Amino acid sequence: MDRLKVLTGNSNRALAEKIVDNLHIPLTPVECSRFSDGEIFVKIGESIRGSDVFIIQSTNKPVNDNMMELLLLIDAAKRASAKSVTAVVPYYGYARQDRKVEPRVPISAKMVANLLESVSLDRLVTIDIHSNQIQGFFNIPVDNIYAAPIILNYVRELAIEDLVVVSPDAGGTHRARSFSAQLNAGLAIIDKRRPQANKSVVMNVIGDVDGKNCLIIDDLIDTGGTIINAASALRERGARDVYCVCTHPVFSDNALDRLIQAEFKKIIFTDTIPLKRESLPQTEQLEILSVADLLSEVIRRIHFGSSLEGIF
Ligand code: R5P
Repeated sequence: MDRLKVLTGNSNRALAEKIVDNLHIPLTPVECSRFSDGEIFVKIGESIRGSDVFIIQSTNKPVNDNMMELLLLIDAAKRASAKSVTAVVPYYGYARQDRKVEPRVPISAKMVANLLESVSLDRLVTIDIHSNQIQGFFNIPVDNIYAAPIILNYVRELAIEDLVVVSPDAGGTHRARSFSAQLNAGLAIIDKRRPQANKSVVMNVIGDVDGKNCLIIDDLIDTGGTIINAASALRERGARDVYCVCTHPVFSDNALDRLIQAEFKKIIFTDTIPLKRESLPQTEQLEILSVADLLSEVIRRIHFGSSLEGIF
């Protein structure tokens, strides 16, 4: 393990600390500061020569600063003669812009992949990336780990009767179907349209939710519009309690307050993006699940060259 180094930027230090605790190694020190004009300065505080280096850094808000820190940390690690550099990006930002949906727009997810490869990254580990095909934007190995086992364990503990798992849009059908099968629950799909970015409209609900308890599952919640509109549509069609779960709590602006006011029985999310429990509204509706154990095991297996098969 002395050739295993884990370091982090400013995006999710709490998660990085849990990971190194699990691995029984110290966090490799990093200085991460700003020049007077706002440029980012990073310096790795000890030798990493010949080591497998894992950089834990989500690209959540402030997205561009966190992305730049990640790129600089990779560059610093490569130039410091690391044997390998793996970016562990629990939440991979810019992933929603993964295709051209109108003229004169970029494919940002591909451009970010190019940037990461341009600093000679060896491997990317991420969790529940917005669309699986983003893996193909890279020419290096990409391990997209699923948070599903963690979420499923928690939902099973809730022992919800008459459960229907709901996908809030057609794109999430595969995920919702897999959850419904593993929870022995029904399945419903919402026909959502996006007239413009960050605005969503429910057109239809496919499936029977009358008298059922519903669990809406999504990869991320940003403004909360998708999930809140989905919950209203389900209630209009006779749903009883509505739960929501996502892997990545992007929660822009006042999204979390709006979710709480929307009277979800539970709002479940993981710590791929840091939200301090103490600073959140004190309500039993909120449940934060940690991906630290999962990522620690992934890092351990990659370092020792073991298969990740059992983890997917
Ligand atoms: C869309 O495809 C995603 O899976 C999410 O449903 C979406 O990004 C959530 O955004 P918002 O919370 O702003 O509706």
